[in-house]
Amino acid sequence: MNLIKLIHALPKTELHLHIEGSLEPAMMWNLASKHGVSLPYDSIADIEAAYQFEDLQSFLDLYYQGADVLRDEDDFYQLMMAYLTRCHDDNVVHAEIMFDPQTHTSRGVGFDVFMPGFERAIQDAKQKWGISVYLIMSFLRHLSEKDAIDTLNQARAYYPMIKAVGLDSSELGNPPEKFVKVFAAARALGFKCVAHAGEEGPPEYIWQALDLLHVDRIDHGVRCVEDASLMQRLKDEGMPLTVCPQSNIKLCVFDHMKDHNILSLLDDDLCVTVNADDPSYFGGYLNDNYRALMTHLSMNESQLVKLVKNSFVASFLPTDEKNHWL
Ligand code: HPA
Ligand code: ZN
Repeated sequence: MNLIKLIHALPKTELHLHIEGSLEPAMMWNLASKHGVSLPYDSIADIEAAYQFEDLQSFLDLYYQGADVLRDEDDFYQLMMAYLTRCHDDNVVHAEIMFDPQTHTSRGVGFDVFMPGFERAIQDAKQKWGISVYLIMSFLRHLSEKDAIDTLNQARAYYPMIKAVGLDSSELGNPPEKFVKVFAAARALGFKCVAHAGEEGPPEYIWQALDLLHVDRIDHGVRCVEDASLMQRLKDEGMPLTVCPQSNIKLCVFDHMKDHNILSLLDDDLCVTVNADDPSYFGGYLNDNYRALMTHLSMNESQLVKLVKNSFVASFLPTDEKNHWL
């Protein structure tokens, strides 16, 4: 089988995906018109043309603005269902999906609106295609730790739907150490923990995520290469990195895909995985990201198989379910 066909055919997991970042311009346009929200764009093509970013913050500004069209339960159902349909198309059998409650609660849209919408789509996708989903509730790190603690408390009725907590948004200036208490509380409640670290931030933020937040995975983490002892630690612990190649190019973490370090991390035996991050903003879903590694980094078949296996190893699936796929 050629590599393109194999990328499609292999059952995969996706572990780093922001559901708000899967809001396609056409859906944004339709929901804006449904709710009478005025967008600073004249057409769907205009929205697409605006997606040129210089860094993480320039992306986040548009991402939060776009999420404002999500208002009622059905909007969140549509959003989740559209992503899970793409999972089915790409042969993604299990997804661990981040959502940002504070992006919605700060606009008066509560857990009782978005959680039932997500749940209905997750159940429909499970029934139609057998896809399994875990949700990761991510705290916005540009806000205070108190706001994150309030969010954890507000989510109480929905804890059974949530597998893990995460940390995202503007990394520089908002180190993991700012969130020690809320992560300790989440761990005590039995949640797994992940955090974005080492996307734009320095290796020190990865150390903090490991030592202070006690995370089970690092989201991005590509700046670990700047610190040899950190690389060794990640390798020794088999600590997964959920790497997002096309995101890193769009946000100028690397100049070009041919400069990306994912395959060298893989060849150094780090547990790296491939993910789309915010596919509608970065121009590709999961298989597009794998194909980009083939085109620009000459990924070979054994590297592909290793990356896909890592996606199961790094997941929060129980061991027997992981073993079923490995
Ligand atoms: N980094 C930080 N925050 C985010 C991202 C990201 O890549 N995507 C959505 N929120
Ligand atoms: Zn992310």
